[in-house]
Amino acid sequence: MSLIYLDNAATSFPKPEDTYVFMDQFYRTHGVNPGRSGYDLCMEAGHLVDDTRKELTAFFNGTNPERLIFAYNSTDALNLALNGLLQAGDHAITTTVEHNSVLRPLEHLSRFNGVELDYVPFDANGFVDPDEIERRFKPNTNVVAVNHASNVVGTVQPVAEIGRRCRERGVHLVVDSSQSAGKIPIDVQAMNIDVLAFTGHKSLMGPTGIGGLCVQDHVEIRHTRAGGTGVRSAYRFHLDEYPWRLEYGTPNVVGIAGLHAGIGWVRETGVDEIHHHEMRLMRRLVDGLREIPGVSLYCQDHLDDHIAVMSFNVDGFDAANTGTILDVDHDIACRTGLHCEPRVHEQLGTDTVHGAVRFGIGPFNTDEHIDVAVGALRQIAGAHARTA
Ligand SMILES: Cc1ncc(COP(=O)(O)O)c(C=O)c1O
Repeated sequence: MSLIYLDNAATSFPKPEDTYVFMDQFYRTHGVNPGRSGYDLCMEAGHLVDDTRKELTAFFNGTNPERLIFAYNSTDALNLALNGLLQAGDHAITTTVEHNSVLRPLEHLSRFNGVELDYVPFDANGFVDPDEIERRFKPNTNVVAVNHASNVVGTVQPVAEIGRRCRERGVHLVVDSSQSAGKIPIDVQAMNIDVLAFTGHKSLMGPTGIGGLCVQDHVEIRHTRAGGTGVRSAYRFHLDEYPWRLEYGTPNVVGIAGLHAGIGWVRETGVDEIHHHEMRLMRRLVDGLREIPGVSLYCQDHLDDHIAVMSFNVDGFDAANTGTILDVDHDIACRTGLHCEPRVHEQLGTDTVHGAVRFGIGPFNTDEHIDVAVGALRQIAGAHARTA
């Protein structure tokens, strides 16, 4: 049997055929610098960029495609948002379920730029309590930054409720949708999200190197970089108008083409359909692993408000060793370690065993993949039990 890819939380693989085909075709026929010149090809490339802004805005139920910003990935997008919203004297609240793409920009702002930072822990099931966030509000709170879905334990946070509390206090809600976009519906209006960061290469089924922000009309983000925009070149400063305000230099046009095809596939397949398929496999996986003595799952007591991402350890094995055995003996690809989420592992106590093994299920996984993975772990855990 060929490789079983269960590392979709790192990046989705393979991509839909449409993504590969359209990127190749578009780059061959329209690989020019969009928005910089007036010849037909350049205009057509510009149309693709504009169309993709519109498609993503509609996908997230945003209102203004000019405020759909392209960046390299969600790390880049989150840096633009957090550095552009927060300044000295501000207070920011985040959680212990965040990825380093939120934690590190905030820690830098706290250490070097006079921003005060508070962490709200997640509960025993992996969820953040909106009441706990509200209790941390101060008069100078400017930003709450939360993960929509965890890339370690797969829990989906009550973003709409957190957003409601933020709206009441005039606090900006910044949401990291890296794991959720394309897996579960996102509606920035209904969920009271002020700034949504997304990455293209996970469940939006695009390539690496493309991501961005969906910024609501009432939010102003300062530009923290400056450079070419292709328009109003005589102006000495970076433009204030969106989308240029937060875009710098030649865009990743082939990445945008891939993302256009990727979300086209997601829309056609249906987010609900994808979620249903992945969660059916997730249930099969969790049920199978629960029956194996010596396998510990984290925050998987129930699968309500979860995406198909989960972590576990096998007694007697360092997470990295389990991953190596899965790879070498069973041809199963997974991710081991701290998953760029040090505080999650500190809170779970798994930092002392070098993290955990993570499986991320994608739309192209099958029942057979799950059964092989469960069988492999039965063997690994059984081998330890016999030698213990
Ligand atoms: C929850 C979460 N946030 C942010 C990121 C960063 O995404 P990217 O590497 O595309 O910037 C990831 C990627 O693993 C993630 O899982």
